[in-house]
Amino acid sequence: MEELFEKLKENRDSGMYPLHMPGHKRQPCGSLPAELYGLDITEIDGFDNLHQPEGILLRMMQEAAGLYGAEESFYLVNGSTAGILSAVSAVLPRGGHILMARNCHKSAYHAAYLRNLRVTYLYPDLFPEFDIFDKIGPEQVQRKLEEEPDIGAVLLVSPTYEGRIQDIRALAETVHEKGIPLIVDEAHGAHLGFGGLPVENSCRAGADLVIHSVHKTLPALTQSALLHVNGNLVDRRKLRRFLQIYQTSSPSYLLMAGIDNALQFVKRDGAEAFRRFESLYDDMMRKLNACRCLKILPWDRKRQDIGKLVVSVKGTGISGRGLYDLLRERYQLQPEMASESFVLAMFTVNDAQEGYERMTRALLEIDRRLAEQGTQGTLSEKTACVPEYGTECQPECAVPLPEAWDMDVTEAELEASIGKCAGEFVNLYPPGVPVLVPGECFSAQLCRSVKNWVKAGLTVQGVRVQDDKIYVKILTDR
Ligand SMILES: Cc1ncc(COP(=O)(O)O)c(C=O)c1O
Repeated sequence: MEELFEKLKENRDSGMYPLHMPGHKRQPCGSLPAELYGLDITEIDGFDNLHQPEGILLRMMQEAAGLYGAEESFYLVNGSTAGILSAVSAVLPRGGHILMARNCHKSAYHAAYLRNLRVTYLYPDLFPEFDIFDKIGPEQVQRKLEEEPDIGAVLLVSPTYEGRIQDIRALAETVHEKGIPLIVDEAHGAHLGFGGLPVENSCRAGADLVIHSVHKTLPALTQSALLHVNGNLVDRRKLRRFLQIYQTSSPSYLLMAGIDNALQFVKRDGAEAFRRFESLYDDMMRKLNACRCLKILPWDRKRQDIGKLVVSVKGTGISGRGLYDLLRERYQLQPEMASESFVLAMFTVNDAQEGYERMTRALLEIDRRLAEQGTQGTLSEKTACVPEYGTECQPECAVPLPEAWDMDVTEAELEASIGKCAGEFVNLYPPGVPVLVPGECFSAQLCRSVKNWVKAGLTVQGVRVQDDKIYVKILTDR
């Protein structure tokens, strides 16, 4: 039963007058649905406290832990962002040394900044043809841990934004041989292992801390997430402390009821719902095999997550943005994102059959037209360098991130910045994985790529475009 939601309704209908926050006093305001206001409360009697849970919230978190195979789970109302900040902060002392995947979300970099961490990067292999980050092997992790014996924790991403899955079991063993914790940013994998899905979640695979954005791949409200902990390598007192620091003192009960609802749905209807999901997704992927121009990232079950649909436009004559716009404008289909060379669409357990059918029809039709037209466009088989993905483009770091991000910056034209140190993060959004970190040097190759991305209409954060000129922030005294 969705206990919290039921209690919120009871409270709304109880006749108790709210002489407390929030200021809307459970009355509608403007045109947002009245239902939202009626259910939105703060910590009042009987509703427990997220930062010191003893009642209903504790029970809900214990249930979440049971479902995921964790010793303890924490509800997050500030997304996986809060979980990553807290996990990284809890496992390392100020000034500690972290080994982390370069394709980490920006929140991992923010944690490194806040805790003044030294960062060593793991550059994942590149998935051929698609220019996306792929796997990090246990040997690579072991080598780094041997080279840098003061590393105190490892942070990996699995599944990646595009759905690549790491062998967490093998990686956890390698990390544990050094007696240090493994954090897995599994923001895109809150559904893993449910209803017979083929990949287990990272709590069960041996990770010490695992972060799930419930809102990304399960039917929950935006911002809702979970942090799980296992084993004795994590100081749980510190973990709780950092959760208090990084999370609001006024957590939304609607968001928390949304997490509970999603998990109750998994328990109650998961077996059937995930079977249906698998069948619909599989059917779409098999039909899309007929594409002759567009290339679809294959679903190989163990290494590629269900739900992600990555469509490469390489060699077709249109750009990723071109395909994205076509899907939106001609077919009324809103993809998750476009890169220079692919489009990413997401399907979850909550998609209607219609979504699969419309996407399949649209892609097959676009593919047919591309085949008829031939490849007269400008996008070559090998796209311009994509340094956020290319292992050959590992930026040189001149000033460590925590120091660099506090230094004075000056704005410079992109071309004049070659060889200079970045004063701001540069990232493509989504997903917000940095391509250049404050203190790292602009290279000619990166500048070319930034120009291409801006020209291709992609969202590049950390740059300003004015009158066809691109400006970036560089460190003033470097
Ligand atoms: C890999 C990864 N980790 C973490 C996050 C942050 O998640 P949230 O938006 O729930 O804070 C994102 C967001 O896109 C992400 O892609």
